[in-house]
Amino acid sequence: MKSLVILISGRGSNMQALIEARLPLKIAAVISNKPDAAGLEIAKQHGVETRVVDHRAYPDREAFDAALVETIDHFHPDLVALAGFMRILGDGFVNHYQGRLMNIHPSLLPAFPGLDTHARALREGVKTHGCTVHFVTPQLDHGPIIIQATVPVLPDDTKQTLEARVLQQEHRIYPQAVRWFAEGKLKLSANRVEILETATAANADANTTSHSPKSHA
Ligand code: GRF
Repeated sequence: MKSLVILISGRGSNMQALIEARLPLKIAAVISNKPDAAGLEIAKQHGVETRVVDHRAYPDREAFDAALVETIDHFHPDLVALAGFMRILGDGFVNHYQGRLMNIHPSLLPAFPGLDTHARALREGVKTHGCTVHFVTPQLDHGPIIIQATVPVLPDDTKQTLEARVLQQEHRIYPQAVRWFAEGKLKLSANRVEILETATAANADANTTSHSPKSHA
């Protein structure tokens, strides 16, 4: 069975969704850069090993990245999933996990990379917003897209109501993307991700989009 390490910085609701989805891969550890991340407790309650690599203990990003790599690689994961991990990772780190480092971002990339996506979406007046799971490349919030889900932006939305609607979809598509990885169904070529078999419930949902050649559903 393949194994997964999840990196968090805070609340950990996406991490929780990954743990509770009972995916066909072992969740080897949850690692946080913040000792007080709420997600660490949730992971422990689920019997998942946890580690803290506190970025404040390192003089620079290179030293922090190196310590993080060492902690992650101790578990020999096939996949590393960033789930609300709020540190920018250096090119060396990203290249070390090339093709096996995923991120979830709360917008329809390439729109709204970076922070505060929901407020920015409201300011721009977009009618459709959403979330994206992608493989990580050195460019921030960029990289081959695995799956996206859309939500409508409603006239009376605040950034809180919009965030909640998007988060519901995050909790659905991140486990789906990791499941595909666990089952060996993701084929990465250049900047595109092909899903080798698409007979899945998530893919049949109207508000989910992924690059799928043919549906067997
Ligand atoms: C999520 O919106 C995720 O997309 C973004 O940070 C947030 C983390 O939330 N990268 P949680 O810690 O998973 O609850």
